[in-house]
Amino acid sequence: MTLNLSIRPFTPHDYPAIAHVRSTVWPDNPVLPQTLRNQDERMKPGLVLRRLVAENNGRVVGYANFSHMEWMYHPQKFWTNLLVHPEHQRQGIGSALYEHLMNELRAFDPIKLSASTREDKSQALRFMQKHGFKEEFRAWESRLDLAGFEPEKWAGHIQKVLRDGYEIKSLAELEGDPQREREMYALDLECSRDVPLPPGEAFTFPDLERYWQNARANTNFRPEMWFLAVKDGEYAGVSQLFARPADHDLNTGFTAVKPTHRRHGVALALKLTALEYAKGQGKTAVRTENAQVNRPMLSINERLGFEKLPAWIDFAKVLKGEA
Ligand SMILES: CC(C)(COP(=O)(O)OP(=O)(O)OC[C@H]1O[C@@H](n2cnc3c(N)ncnc32)[C@H](O)[C@@H]1OP(=O)(O)O)[C@@H](O)C(=O)NCCC(=O)NCCS
Repeated sequence: MTLNLSIRPFTPHDYPAIAHVRSTVWPDNPVLPQTLRNQDERMKPGLVLRRLVAENNGRVVGYANFSHMEWMYHPQKFWTNLLVHPEHQRQGIGSALYEHLMNELRAFDPIKLSASTREDKSQALRFMQKHGFKEEFRAWESRLDLAGFEPEKWAGHIQKVLRDGYEIKSLAELEGDPQREREMYALDLECSRDVPLPPGEAFTFPDLERYWQNARANTNFRPEMWFLAVKDGEYAGVSQLFARPADHDLNTGFTAVKPTHRRHGVALALKLTALEYAKGQGKTAVRTENAQVNRPMLSINERLGFEKLPAWIDFAKVLKGEA
């Protein structure tokens, strides 16, 4: 069929079409239209998100967007995303979307663009190279199949932590604690400093109010799936799970233990609690994503039997100065 391409701004009617494109490009990470809408609606007011869709003969066959990154905010740095439906690749649609995206970006005087793809996507890797993006950072997504996970075998690791004076409770169970929101926030804030980031980047951590506004507005947030280790009222560690409404897995959010409580088995016990919960809910697997340089977290996940999928590679295109 001949190409009859047009590129136009995204409208909310396009959510089903872009969810379909994304789920076809990444079949092992399917997404629902309402999840994409929820992500967009949670953007911090004032930050920029622009999206374009490519239509061929009236059908959406690809899309591209750029947005500020709330958690690594710089007014001239943008996260970019460009996807073309596999049946419509190698026809110049990606290049056309890229050209339009760069034109729209110009008004924001960008100094750095970031983008991500996976090491097994050879065409996407070539596309990045061709457009001047350079590799910056690698992370592994890994998956633990719950059919082979036997909680009984690990029970001793949870009991040890309980014997050491920690309580393990979900955020839902901690509802009666008036310090719950402050404690969870303080834990995340302190531990986020130790999470590896791409070179030259730093977390721009939200304030308490924005932190909870963002968490509560996330339709995949479930207070009963955030597991906390509490000692003498202090929230010492956390391991979070999030829903994945498009399949039967769960995603891991942040797993973290305050520096003064590390190497006591707290993270291992929290992850075991999360895995046992997921299995009890009849889920098929738990996913997680870790920087390849995060040896402490990778060690725990490897020990638990998480299997690595092809690595995600973050790329950057520096447009001005050192960025
Ligand atoms: C990763 C982290 C949660 C581990 O917490 P922890 O409570 O200290 O971990 P545990 O005590 O349960 O460790 C269990 C096992 O994991 C491995 N491990 C933990 N920390 C390690 C380290 N720094 N180096 C190597 N192995 C490590 C060890 O095998 C350890 O068993 P051992 O102490 O008997 O040798 C903690 O270092 C942290 O909060 N880091 C910053 C936040 C972060 O990066 N989170 C992950 C984001 S993806």
